[in-house]
Amino acid sequence: MQESSFTIKSNGKIALNTFRMILEGDTSAISGSGQFVQIELPGKFLRRPISVCDYDAGSLTLIYKVVGEGTALMSRMAEGETLTILTGLGHGFDADKCKGKALLVGGGVGTAPLYRLARELRSKGKEVTVILGFNCKDEVMLEEEFKSLGAEVTVTTADGSVGVKGFVTDPLGNVGGYDYLYTCGPKVMMKALCRKVTVPGELSMEERMGCGFGICYGCTCNTSSGTRRVCKDGPVFKKEEIIW
Ligand SMILES: Cc1cc2nc3c(=O)[nH]c(=O)nc-3n(C[C@H](O)[C@H](O)[C@H](O)COP(=O)(O)OP(=O)(O)OC[C@H]3O[C@@H](n4cnc5c(N)ncnc54)[C@H](O)[C@@H]3O)c2cc1C
Ligand code: FES
Repeated sequence: MQESSFTIKSNGKIALNTFRMILEGDTSAISGSGQFVQIELPGKFLRRPISVCDYDAGSLTLIYKVVGEGTALMSRMAEGETLTILTGLGHGFDADKCKGKALLVGGGVGTAPLYRLARELRSKGKEVTVILGFNCKDEVMLEEEFKSLGAEVTVTTADGSVGVKGFVTDPLGNVGGYDYLYTCGPKVMMKALCRKVTVPGELSMEERMGCGFGICYGCTCNTSSGTRRVCKDGPVFKKEEIIW
């Protein structure tokens, strides 16, 4: 874990109420796909947890949805402004668990951490099938970016305004051959998905957070090995260990 200053290189809207912020700074504490950062915001006591969408040496990409004061404040920030960010938080996805073909399922802004994972899986020569679920066409994001990585992508929308009408579980019958599931999104989506998908997998949990690094126990969830901290023991857990 490391606290350092990042400079905003760009910050723009990519979908309904959803922004992509690219920052420059020291990313050396980030060790893999599915980790998150905690962002210090002026006037806010608690830092805001946001997943790493992508990173490389010196560059960090975040995608965030404006839901309250903190994220609204972020959306108004401009190129050149700085943010103090805690990096290297949490345990992420294990790309080596997939042996041949991965199924990635993202719901809403939960799609963000799956992008870096897809890039990692493709660089290891794995096939990637992606199902993305949104409420409507205006919320759709990252579809082209996943396609550019060579992934097979299906978009679903609850209102049918684009892609398959319905939920991420609806097109499951049309995809096959995968040996591992990776998912991030609303709990209700992940719960339904984990019941339908029979192969093993991992999911990224979300809970309100205080410290973000394991001290306050404000972010616990129930697992088969007892109460675990989402920030420190997760956010990524094995699909089989979560007690819904
Ligand atoms: C591990 C993790 C990764 C996340 N990754 C992303 C991401 O990549 N993109 C994205 O848009 N959102 C992500 N979230 C949710 C994001 O943290 C909240 O939407 C954000 O903190 C809301 O802040 P706010 O000030 O705008 O909202 P407010 O409602 O004003 O926030 C009040 C307080 O509640 C907390 N809070 C509110 N909603 C959530 C939430 N859903 N989860 C956790 N804390 C919350 C805030 O951090 C703050 O401390 C993630 C959450 C977690 C736990
Ligand atoms: S947020 Fe403090 S222990 Fe997880």
